[in-house]
Amino acid sequence: MDEPPPQRPCAAASSLSSLRGTATAAVHADKLAVEEESVPEWTFSTAEDVAPPLSLSTTFTAPSSGQGHIYSRISAPTRSRCETLLGNVEGTQEQPAHAVLYSSGLAAAFALFAHFLPKRVFISGGYHGTHQVLGQLQKISAGSRCKCEPLPGPEKLASCLEAGDLIWLETPLNPSCDVANIKAYVAAAKSCPDVHVAVDGTFAPPPLQRPLLLGADAVMHATTKSLAGHSDVLGGAICVASAETADQLRKDRLALGSTPGNLEVWLLMRSLRTLHVRVRQQSATATLLAEWLDAARTDTSHELAGLIHAVHHPSLKSHKNHSVAVEQMPGGFGGCFALELASEAAARALPGSLKLFGSATSLGGVESLIEWRRRWDPAISPLLLRVSIGLEDFEHLRADLLQGVLRVSSEAKPDAEDQEHEAWAQVLTSPECIGSASIDRNRVSRGLMKLSPSWPLEVSRARSVAEFAVGGGTKAKRPNELNCKSNQLHSTARGHFMFASLSQL
Ligand SMILES: Cc1ncc(COP(=O)(O)O)c(C=O)c1O
Repeated sequence: MDEPPPQRPCAAASSLSSLRGTATAAVHADKLAVEEESVPEWTFSTAEDVAPPLSLSTTFTAPSSGQGHIYSRISAPTRSRCETLLGNVEGTQEQPAHAVLYSSGLAAAFALFAHFLPKRVFISGGYHGTHQVLGQLQKISAGSRCKCEPLPGPEKLASCLEAGDLIWLETPLNPSCDVANIKAYVAAAKSCPDVHVAVDGTFAPPPLQRPLLLGADAVMHATTKSLAGHSDVLGGAICVASAETADQLRKDRLALGSTPGNLEVWLLMRSLRTLHVRVRQQSATATLLAEWLDAARTDTSHELAGLIHAVHHPSLKSHKNHSVAVEQMPGGFGGCFALELASEAAARALPGSLKLFGSATSLGGVESLIEWRRRWDPAISPLLLRVSIGLEDFEHLRADLLQGVLRVSSEAKPDAEDQEHEAWAQVLTSPECIGSASIDRNRVSRGLMKLSPSWPLEVSRARSVAEFAVGGGTKAKRPNELNCKSNQLHSTARGHFMFASLSQL
């Protein structure tokens, strides 16, 4: 019989604390946590399965020892396992992390705002849903909590802070990809007692950026995006450095009932195993595509010369926060970028002209998606498309974008009707018009801009509103016909803006 091979000395790299934050942790952290007895064995049901079992049970036989799961809103094996895993994926050797999972990204955002319950939140732009969450908290607290203040640069912020404020950094920002300097904001926060910094890291999941390592108090992720990564899970997570804070968040979650379902958590755990590979690949492909598209702005021999208005990705030297991103995002610049085409008509048409990019909202999945973002958020430029890069080959995605941009740009010749909108918008927002009809300049202008040449009905209505307004319309003189039209318009999503305009008259 052969001699057994000599036992190698146990490599230091096999202890969990030395693996935290790595791809290896994403595959082994849950089992190692049990083996190293930092987690009691019953917590995950079993440590013998090679792949984690899916426990769907909502209730558990009352534990005689006093230790064990009781009811799944409190704790559940699959969720405890996934939280242990995610904590070790977000944390690093230098900075451990504890993860708490939620039923959606916005449920996690709500939980984090409710945890700090600040009087004021410094926040600018970003995902519009986060602002809706803040609106809810303002409503519940009768306006005494979560008042939004625009976020200035970190140097200016220090002088504006009061004890108890919360600084909310979504970085990179959805969809503009602006990057906030986490370290500098943390330094500003430290200049005033009891000020906290929370980061929405959805656009830069681990291993791209580590907000806790930079001093942030908490990082929130819409796990719906890159962490779950397959467009089939809705979920959210908060990761914090302190185990006590994580326990408090779990207690709050128990009361709020914002727990994720076990299946979603199991799917998330499965996806975390491949997170590093997926995210690095998506980030690398997005960087190559952004670079190629951006070159069209300056290189007259580029296939898309003259057709690209702007490209926003932190990897680009032209990006306004590139140097901060280089320091802050050592793992890569993210799988999303914003692309601005030369005309609104081309931007609207592009998603429908691509074969490999789904025309859909959301991001971070294995399949590339593209979206004309203005559809949901009127604050976004009408030229802008948010692009989320999946795991397809760079060359195929490049070829698809090339044919798509060429096609929509040749179809979207500078259209007379676009120019007509512009002209009517100018008339409507002219000082004489504003003065005579007390129209809200921005809303009317936005309403008109929202109209497309392909909606002639709205165009003619816009014209009649404009004629009425230019003719010196007042509330008293408003014709019934316009009242009636406003109701009709209100019934369509696009008409919303016209309705807003009409109601100003
Ligand atoms: C940056 C960011 N934060 C939060 C959310 C909300 O996540 P969920 O849709 O899972 O609630 C999103 C969703 O798109 C997002 O992009």
